[in-house]
Amino acid sequence: MVKATVIGAAGGIGQPLSLLLKQSTIITDLALYDVVNAPGVAVDISHIDTPSVVQGYLPDNDGLANSLKGTDIVVIPAGVPRKPGMTRDDLFNINAGIVRDTAIAIATHAPKAFVLVISNPVNSTVPVVAEVFKKKGIYDPKRLFGVTTLDVVRASTFVSEANGEPTKSLDYSVPIVGGHSGETIVPLLSASQPAIKFDASKQAEIVKRIQFGGDEVVKAKAGGGSATLSMAYAGARFAISVLEAAFGGKSSTEYSYIDVKAIGAGEWSGVVGSLDFFSVPVKLGKSGVESVGSAPKPTAEEEKLLKVAQDQLSGNISKGVQFVSIDD
Ligand code: NAD
Ligand code: LMR
Repeated sequence: MVKATVIGAAGGIGQPLSLLLKQSTIITDLALYDVVNAPGVAVDISHIDTPSVVQGYLPDNDGLANSLKGTDIVVIPAGVPRKPGMTRDDLFNINAGIVRDTAIAIATHAPKAFVLVISNPVNSTVPVVAEVFKKKGIYDPKRLFGVTTLDVVRASTFVSEANGEPTKSLDYSVPIVGGHSGETIVPLLSASQPAIKFDASKQAEIVKRIQFGGDEVVKAKAGGGSATLSMAYAGARFAISVLEAAFGGKSSTEYSYIDVKAIGAGEWSGVVGSLDFFSVPVKLGKSGVESVGSAPKPTAEEEKLLKVAQDQLSGNISKGVQFVSIDD
């Protein structure tokens, strides 16, 4: 029996993410929680003929607690998305509170669950969850993940497109480390598998496109929100990888923004420096993070990108930590 809970399940990401999770046969119970519309989404999805039982929950009748009880994984796409002209950090004031309250409920009702944070700004909301869990005395850093899979998915697509091979996108694996916002997203194109052969200006163009891929969607949606469908794809892929490693005996490696200070950054220590959180390749196992994957040697140009990312991440992380501490 494997139970998965989506918090924010009626939203732009939440609905297609729940749909994709319903297609996974490793999940037997799918709990969909939102402050609005979750029961309708749940009944709709429940008609799909895959094994999991689907239940929708609203805040009344202890809905949040009931959606979390006995769950193995909580995926959190709850919160407001960007509009044109906004940064992810502009979402902090609203979303940090939503994520904090969700984390408090998880600490009480599902303290051993894997927790996957999608709500932006991920660079700060993941430290918010960590701080809440520390205060509640239930923090297991190996079970807390900031979802940065969309950056990896975009990189493989954009590199393939630049190569004139749009149908082969899945063939490209590009390490994407750092955080999940603009210049904190650091693509290490020099370590792409298979190797790519663009000139320096084309490489710089692709790096920018990966870093600001989210803005492309925000602009195209013209006030209608940010990436939802590609995010649902990426979020479902990551969630299912975590579950397959924990319950299906199939370990894999995915990039994720994790507590590298508590877990250890391994070969990435030099790149991570004194930062507490960083996205690195994570080998997933029965208890979440099993180990951190190997690190390529960055080029001089990539070293510069990493330095910019480190400086910004430091402030983003402190902001999340302070948000919980001033709450005392
Ligand atoms: P949305 O507005 O369409 O959906 C958000 C949902 O959250 C809504 O249904 C809303 O009712 C619900 N919600 C609000 N407060 C809640 C609470 N306290 N408890 C439970 N549910 C609550 O937004 P969206 O487009 O789905 O985006 C959601 C978040 O995901 C945004 O913060 C966005 O920036 C972020 N995002 C992250 C990534 C990533 O790569 N990590 C990618 C895309 C979007
Ligand atoms: C993305 O990368 O698409 C998300 O973080 C949403 C956004 O605000 O761009």
